[in-house]
Amino acid sequence: MTATPPSHTAPATLSRTLSWPHLVALGVGSIVGTGILTLIGVGADRAGPAVLLSFAIAGGICALAALAYAELAAMMPAAGSAYSYSHRVLGPTLGWIVGWSLILEYSLVVSTVAVGWSGYAAPLLEAAGLPAALTRGPELGGIANLPAVFIIAVVAALLAFGTHESARINTVLVVVKILTLSLFVIVALPAFDATHLSPFMPFGFGKHMGPDGVERGVMAAAAIIFFAFYGFDAISTAAEETREPGRDLVIGILGSLAICTLVYVLVAAAAIGARPFADFADSPEPLALILRQMGQGAVARVVAVAAVIALPTVLLGFLYGQSRIFLAMARDGFLPAGLARLSPRGTPLRVTWMTAVIVAVLAGVLPISDIAALANAGTLIAFAAVGVCLVTLRRREPDAVRPFRVPGGIAVGCGAVAGCLYLFVSLPTKTLLACLAWNVLGALVLLIQRRRALRQGLS
Ligand code: ALA
Repeated sequence: MTATPPSHTAPATLSRTLSWPHLVALGVGSIVGTGILTLIGVGADRAGPAVLLSFAIAGGICALAALAYAELAAMMPAAGSAYSYSHRVLGPTLGWIVGWSLILEYSLVVSTVAVGWSGYAAPLLEAAGLPAALTRGPELGGIANLPAVFIIAVVAALLAFGTHESARINTVLVVVKILTLSLFVIVALPAFDATHLSPFMPFGFGKHMGPDGVERGVMAAAAIIFFAFYGFDAISTAAEETREPGRDLVIGILGSLAICTLVYVLVAAAAIGARPFADFADSPEPLALILRQMGQGAVARVVAVAAVIALPTVLLGFLYGQSRIFLAMARDGFLPAGLARLSPRGTPLRVTWMTAVIVAVLAGVLPISDIAALANAGTLIAFAAVGVCLVTLRRREPDAVRPFRVPGGIAVGCGAVAGCLYLFVSLPTKTLLACLAWNVLGALVLLIQRRRALRQGLS
């Protein structure tokens, strides 16, 4: 659902040119982003040093969902996403709920990553003379986060012109991201001070309200940090272009997640060990801040510039994926076909700009933790549905051909569902209410669409 290989622009038969190394690069390109670069600061604020545990929990649950994804993607290589699996396996109504959740996820990931991008870009822009009031949202004392709005406009314009990043650019930027995070680890890890780990769990384990009105605990942090791990489902969109879907998709999905998990654990350990967590908690640019506090200003600038260069690939991929899911749902009669109409260039202009305007407004004024939490709510619903699909298909079609069969499939599927639900309820209460409101809106849209379809059927 994100960084797209060049052949996505080809309309008819896609040639099978991608192999697993491409897919691993595609996955890492979509996974590594604002989660590790920015939300690590939010996680530290919510869990203290035990954010390390939050990373492990969120990564473990994501791994279960990734295994379920791998089995389904290899079984249905032409289908692109949790929406398609759910629609086929669980029926149209549940398929709708998953699709509607994915719209929430894809849109808000764009807002979140844009705010994350701005966190690293703003100090560079302020040094060039832009007033701080225009580079921060109201929660950080500014008027609006204009850099976040700007980067969304740029990415939307690129998509509107039908520009998709090439696999080669994606690979270069993946290398930039991994090298940047490695640089951070190399510089910060030697300063590891074990006293920074104590007390390890100052805010306890389960989600609970703090005196300042913020919900904290290891699980509250895990529910936010979860953001850092997803994006591997991007790989399933390239299914039709893989040489051996059964092998390549599985290695791509699981391999990219494994690489990112390893890098994240190292980055998180280096960050927590280098400085007391309170020093960078909730910072808009925690990794650069830690480096500056260590007296490594030049390295901090390198990290900031690399983040500014490499993060837009995540934006491009998710905004593209958003229009893709929208088109799939419109084709199934779930959303107005007019909105999903393609321009002569073959791009869904209306939906791209409509989404861009909404997510840009949100990115301009909302705190990153709120937007990320709501994006996670949508993703968790979709991932839980993938777990349910795995279990349902194992029971309903035990003998169907499965190019990849997850060992202990039923247990993995149930584990993915339980884990996603646990993370879901650990999200901030206001996020759960916003997610409920989103689903009520979804039910209304579905009702209107069904009545319209019925009327058209009768006339
Ligand atoms: N995992 C992606 C990120 O952290 C969404 O930016």
